[in-house]
Amino acid sequence: MMKILVINGPNLNMLGIREPDHYGRETYADLVKKINNYCELKGIEVKLFQSNHEGALVDEIQNAYGNIDGIVINPGAYTHTSIAILDAVKSVNIPTVEVHISKVEEREEFRQISYVRLACVKTITGHGTDGYLEAIDYLVGSK
Ligand code: DQA
Repeated sequence: MMKILVINGPNLNMLGIREPDHYGRETYADLVKKINNYCELKGIEVKLFQSNHEGALVDEIQNAYGNIDGIVINPGAYTHTSIAILDAVKSVNIPTVEVHISKVEEREEFRQISYVRLACVKTITGHGTDGYLEAIDYLVGSK
């Protein structure tokens, strides 16, 4: 059975509460349920992880080494700042898809840089939380 790790970074635990115009009304708990249901249906083993701490995200990526077939990551604001997360993804050599709920390319200038993208096989933006499911499909399809 394919094993996928879905990682969410800072403030994504505030989904449904934070800036609903950008991120919608679905909560993080709703997102977890949606991903779990989808993976159960598809026969995929999935683990979800969320942290507001950069180092905890790096630890989780490192822990995936040798255990996980694909990573879906929304690093939140760390997308635009974190070379550590980029290097972690590069280290483990696991196909990784970058997801953003909002259409980052149509937002502020400071959101136009993505470090993690340099290590990702695909980027999905602006599809809301469906983007996570599309990322999972992509990883399954390229396996
Ligand atoms: C985000 C976009 C980031 O710029 C922002 O800092 C987030 C969420 C998104 O899912 O659209 O926290 O990654």
